[in-house]
Amino acid sequence: MELELKQLRDRCIADLNDVNELKILDNVRIKYLGKKGELTIALKGMGKLSKEERPIIGKLANEVREEIEKALSHQKQILEKKEIDARIREEVIDVSLPGKKHLAGRLHPLTTTINELKEIFLGMGFSIAEGPEIEWAKYNFDFLNVPLDHSARDLQDTFYYEDDIVLRTQTSPVQVRVMENQKPPLRIISPGRVYRSDAIDATHSPVFHQMEGLVIDKGITMSDLKGTMDMFAKKLFGEQTKTKFRPHQFYFTEPSAEMDVTCFKCGGVGCKVCSNTGWIEILGCGMVHPNVLKICGIDPDVYSGFAFGMGLDRITMIKYGINDLRLLFENDLRFLSQFK
Ligand code: DAH
Repeated sequence: MELELKQLRDRCIADLNDVNELKILDNVRIKYLGKKGELTIALKGMGKLSKEERPIIGKLANEVREEIEKALSHQKQILEKKEIDARIREEVIDVSLPGKKHLAGRLHPLTTTINELKEIFLGMGFSIAEGPEIEWAKYNFDFLNVPLDHSARDLQDTFYYEDDIVLRTQTSPVQVRVMENQKPPLRIISPGRVYRSDAIDATHSPVFHQMEGLVIDKGITMSDLKGTMDMFAKKLFGEQTKTKFRPHQFYFTEPSAEMDVTCFKCGGVGCKVCSNTGWIEILGCGMVHPNVLKICGIDPDVYSGFAFGMGLDRITMIKYGINDLRLLFENDLRFLSQFK
C-alpha cells in the first residue's frame, strides 16, 4: 500500500508537469483527487489494513494528498502566468500606428439653404407649417382655384395615388391647410418635398423641393408683398441685391408676379450665372385670390394676403454654382464634401 501511494503520487506529479494548458489542469485533479479519483479509491482499500498499519498509511495518504495539492497549485500558478504573458504579448498596442480617422458629417447644401431661409423668415415673424407629401387632389388643385381642365392635373405631370389622392406637385396646398385650421393673422413658411412626373435630367427631377409662404391679415397689400420679398432677397443674396417683379399668372393669386433678383455674381452686368441678362428668376408670388380665401373660410372683404413659392433646389444651384440638379440627389461624397 505504501508503495502504491508513492507511485500514485509520482504519477500524478509527472502528469501535472506535462500539463501546459490551464483548461486541462482540472482534468488531472479530478483523475487523482476526484470522487472516483485514484487516491480516493486507494484510500477505500484502507479498511483491509491491520491496526498497526492503518495510522502509518493514513499519515502517508495525507502527505500524498498535500503534496499533490501543492503541486497542483504550483502548476496552476505557472500556467496562469504563462497565459497572462501570452495575452500581454498578443494585445500589445503599437502607439506609433496611425490613428483611425473619424469622418465628420456635414450639412447637405439643400439643408443649408433651407436653414438659411428659415432663419430669414423666422426673423421676420413667420412660423413654420407642415403639410403631407401625399395630398388630396382637391388641396393640391381645386381649393387653389386651379381649373378642372388645367394641364398640370394631367397624368403626365402628376403622380396619382388614387383619383383623388396625389403626390403633391407644389407646397401650395399647405396654404389651404393653414387657412382651414388657423384664424388670421397668418404668417407661415412651409419648406418641403414635391413631386412631378418628369424624366430626370440636368434641370428636372421627379422629386424636388419648394418653399411656400403665406401672409393673411387685414389691410395686406401688394407693397407688403414687394417689401417682404425684397428684404428676403437682400438677406439671402446680399444687401446690394435689387428685385424686379414681372407680371405672371397663377390660379391662386391675383395679381400674380415672378420675382427676379440682380445676379449676385456679376451684380447685374451679365455673366454665365445669369445667362448674360443680369437677372435671375427666383420665385412666383401674388395676392391671394379671393376665391381661395372664400374656399378656406376667410372673408375676402375683411382679409387680404399674399403668397409666394420658390424652388429650393434651384436657389441652391444658383448660390453654389451647381450646374446639374442630379448632383443634389446622388449623394456622392466627392460632391457633398465640398460644402463646408
Ligand atoms: N406653386 C407654384 C409653383 O409650383 C409657385 C407659387 C407661385 C407659389 C405663386 C405661390 C404663389 O404661393 O403665390 O410653380
